[in-house]
Amino acid sequence: AYGVLSWAIPVNQEQLIWDWDNINVKDRYFPEDFLWGTATSAHQVEGYNDNNQWHAFEQGLLWKPESGLPIGDGTVSGKACDHWNLYKKDIQLMKKDLGTNTYRFSIEWSKIEYRKGQYNMSVVQHYHDVIDELLANNISPMVTIHHFTDPLWFVDLGAWEKSENVEHFVSFAKFAFNEYSSKVKLWCTINEPNVYSLAGYTGGGFPPRKNDIPLAMEVMKNFGDGHVAAYRALKQLPNGAESKIGIVHQLGNHDAYNKDSLMDRVITKFANDLSPGIFLSFFSTGIMKFHIPFVVNFNHENKDAINSNDFIGLNYYTRQVEQFTFDSPTLANQYRDRSRNYTDMDWEIYPEGIYRMIKLIDHYNPNIPIIITENGIADAKDRFVKMFYERYLYAVSRAIKEGYNVKGFVAWSLLDNFEWSGGFEPRFGLYHVNYETQERTLKEGSKAFIQAISEWKATH
Ligand code: NOJ
Repeated sequence: AYGVLSWAIPVNQEQLIWDWDNINVKDRYFPEDFLWGTATSAHQVEGYNDNNQWHAFEQGLLWKPESGLPIGDGTVSGKACDHWNLYKKDIQLMKKDLGTNTYRFSIEWSKIEYRKGQYNMSVVQHYHDVIDELLANNISPMVTIHHFTDPLWFVDLGAWEKSENVEHFVSFAKFAFNEYSSKVKLWCTINEPNVYSLAGYTGGGFPPRKNDIPLAMEVMKNFGDGHVAAYRALKQLPNGAESKIGIVHQLGNHDAYNKDSLMDRVITKFANDLSPGIFLSFFSTGIMKFHIPFVVNFNHENKDAINSNDFIGLNYYTRQVEQFTFDSPTLANQYRDRSRNYTDMDWEIYPEGIYRMIKLIDHYNPNIPIIITENGIADAKDRFVKMFYERYLYAVSRAIKEGYNVKGFVAWSLLDNFEWSGGFEPRFGLYHVNYETQERTLKEGSKAFIQAISEWKATH
């Protein structure tokens, strides 16, 4: 029986490791119309959010540990990077220092539609001002409509747990599109629905901190349907046909610790089925499914999901090496090989993985345009930033040279910012932020990113 099972559960993918000592990372090519950008999200950088579930969570209103507050003993997003007021300065960093041509940011639903059907027009105007400033500096705005935060009124209705709430999101998406689509040509509907669902509903550190697998599945389904409904609706609106609209996924590879261990392979297969598998197969077949015998049997069909992306946004950070264990409720331990390099998040630096993921997305959706909508490193001491960007850009370029349709690379993040349940500790910025003075300082290693952009400019 063991033999049959081993055969039925193949080793998922090639577990590539490149010989970096013998690779020239500068041997790279990016096409002429390539998008070079940085990304942020509203709640993480703007400041002054007091009407969404993350604010309530930070204040201990949704869940409270026995002592202190949920994040880092009382950290709140507060003023964050004050990007709300400092956006013009920040746009100069993008333009003058970095030389980027794209900026991915989110518009804060809870600030715009502060009550159901009621819109704050001065906030609407604020985002017009941001967009106008970007355009005046030749930077293309790429707008994310939903980046983890929900208005409190939407939370009161049950948020993404209820399929009938999807229409509220679609109506906000239409509002935003009508408002900004004459200026904004790149749209991300929803950021990382798998992360929201799994971190919020399978015992992770995100609100609402539930631990309920069927509910996590329901939330994923509603996000999937929400994207599809929004995509179809926006495509019908003025400017819809010529806009590029896609979903953004955080996709990481799961690799078996021991390829010869049946149990390592089994848990690796389930991890891959769940993510990246669940959304990639949804958009290629219209079927969202996840099965673990006796644990979960989830099946959802929405044929409208097929071809509902003009591009796929890929947020790539790391891979996970899965080792079977009885010591964890998920029966998996994430193995760390300390001879390799890990970031401040304790995420392995594994640039081969972005190359593999590009190929996997393409396998599910042949030749679909892919935009790297996030890639970056939390590294407060700036030990690996240079190496990180050089190697990741090399890996992306290698995929491009092999013919994969990668349209852009957007670094996470422009600034150090509020890293959700991690508080302000993890520093993902190309710029270091002093939260007392709001001073931004370029990290030495970030020059590797600038260097790639200027090389590309010189050759086009
Ligand atoms: C992905 C998320 O979209 C972003 O909000 C987060 O800060 C980064 N990953 C880093 O964890």
